[in-house]
Amino acid sequence: MTTRTAAARHAGTDSRVLLELTNELSKKSIDKGLKSVVNILRRISENYTWLGIYLVKDDSLVLAAYAGEGETEHVQIPIGQGICGLAAKQAETIIVPDVNKDPRYLMCFPSTRSEIVVPIRGTASVLGEIDIDSDRPSAFTKYDQDLLEQAATILGEYLQTQRISLEPSKDSL
Ligand code: SME
Repeated sequence: MTTRTAAARHAGTDSRVLLELTNELSKKSIDKGLKSVVNILRRISENYTWLGIYLVKDDSLVLAAYAGEGETEHVQIPIGQGICGLAAKQAETIIVPDVNKDPRYLMCFPSTRSEIVVPIRGTASVLGEIDIDSDRPSAFTKYDQDLLEQAATILGEYLQTQRISLEPSKDSL
């Protein structure tokens, strides 16, 4: 396949995925919406072995939805700890090509070889993140990062709106 054809194929996949995310979030409750989102994102690549969305609550990340075979013991991660906690603290995407060589990594599944964590930013702070574990070494490329960061932007706008609508209005106080 030529580079041009691959780029066109990627562009088609990207817009389909992003449109699907927007649609699912617009018509569902937050729990069901996030569950749909993890399933849609995991289908992007067979390299995405386990995919979770964590939401920031006080000083921690709390697992809100996941798609994948395994259940993780890390359902709550303090900001600053592990790759997840660090990405939230720095508000930057982190790619770990070989988890066995990274002392910051918190193990969830013995089969995991590489990981990407993409923060979900709100207007003032990080609201959550997308975390993907792959059983393949060096599974995550710039393509994955770009697409997942676009997905995180959609999620950030959505979560920001949800937060505002969940805040008590002055009239109800
Ligand atoms: N590996 C992550 C912990 C979460 S699990 O991958 C689901 C980390 O190092 O923070």
